[in-house]
Amino acid sequence: MKDVKVAIVGSGGIANIYAIALKTISAVDIVACASPTEEHIASFASRFDIPRRFTEYRKMLEMDAIDLVVIGTPNHLHAQITVEAASAGKHVVCVKPLCMNLFEADEMIEACRRANVRLMYGENICFEPKYVKLKEICDSGALGDVFLLKQSSKHGGPPTEWFWDLSKSGGWATMDLGCHALQFFRWICKNEEPESIFAEMANCVHAREQRGDDESIIIVNFRNGLRAITETSWAKKGGFEDKAEAYGTKGVSYAYMPMGMTLDTYSEIGYQKKHYVSENVPPGWTYATYEEEWHYGFPQMFRHFTDCILNDTDPVVTGEDGRKVMEMMLAAYESANKGCKVYFPFEKEVEKPIDLWLHNK
Ligand SMILES: NC(=O)c1ccc[n+]([C@@H]2O[C@H](COP(=O)([O-])OP(=O)(O)OC[C@H]3O[C@@H](n4cnc5c(N)ncnc54)[C@H](O)[C@@H]3O)[C@@H](O)[C@H]2O)c1
Repeated sequence: MKDVKVAIVGSGGIANIYAIALKTISAVDIVACASPTEEHIASFASRFDIPRRFTEYRKMLEMDAIDLVVIGTPNHLHAQITVEAASAGKHVVCVKPLCMNLFEADEMIEACRRANVRLMYGENICFEPKYVKLKEICDSGALGDVFLLKQSSKHGGPPTEWFWDLSKSGGWATMDLGCHALQFFRWICKNEEPESIFAEMANCVHAREQRGDDESIIIVNFRNGLRAITETSWAKKGGFEDKAEAYGTKGVSYAYMPMGMTLDTYSEIGYQKKHYVSENVPPGWTYATYEEEWHYGFPQMFRHFTDCILNDTDPVVTGEDGRKVMEMMLAAYESANKGCKVYFPFEKEVEKPIDLWLHNK
């Protein structure tokens, strides 16, 4: 089978997970990588045995022998890199959140459409085996009519430095973790349109450093009557939490991510995991993970995206999905600011979602 030649932009947390996942796919050849700091990109290239490395991604995009560009950079760079990669004729996988606002989302979608390349939204939640099973149970009718969904991801705060800078992150818990939940809801209810959204947000433990939303509760009403609730947090002490629940007229199903992928472990000095899920794990009882990339669906996601390129088929998660999630996040920040429900469509133009919440505060 023909290889898909992949180039990765970024060499930090998610880029490492992406490289590990891509290395599991025989039809993938990682041919190049780019990140601004020579020391970082050199060690990344050597860790994953990548032949070409660049400190300027634009130079990398000049390479003919790239089919797919995979973006794992801070949020404010997603749009510009996508547009330039598409203009260079490469397919794109852009990590979540898609970008900073709807204008950027439209630019990305249009650039890929014009260049006749695919824009695939790197939302791994739709590939996590436990959540895939939950969707299968819902779709089978075993729960009757599903009337309520819940999904929560929580941890203790910004995973890396640039998140503190709102001009680079665009928002905090809602933008970073809420985007997973909103796409999860859309995916489970087969892309049903949202009717309204209500949100409350707060800054509970980081107020001294920055004004972002470190606690966020969002309720979505879909047009088919289904309600969905997400509680996302960067204020939760004691490690990572990630769970989903589905309630139907004939049953219920709980999918708690860490259960079944952890070892309950007590340590007086804590347990430091190399990737992102159990960052900031304190001393005491910890939940040591294994095969994290697989449990979080990353190899499965890239296998699917690679198949889409090789077979010219539509991906499960597209740029349009990322745009819809962006619209929902914008509406959530607006609702948290106004203290009332916000109705769709919601097409407000702002530089970054959190501006709508911080406005007049
Ligand atoms: N489950 C997930 O899908 C998931 C998990 C974690 C992070 N993320 C997303 O991944 C993205 C990156 O987050 P992270 O935690 O990996 O951050 P990070 O700080 O660990 O890595 C960011 C990388 O981008 C590189 N970079 C910065 N400017 C660049 C430029 N101009 N050109 C090329 N590279 C540049 C940095 O050098 C660094 O290697 C964010 O959008 C975040 O939301 C997604």
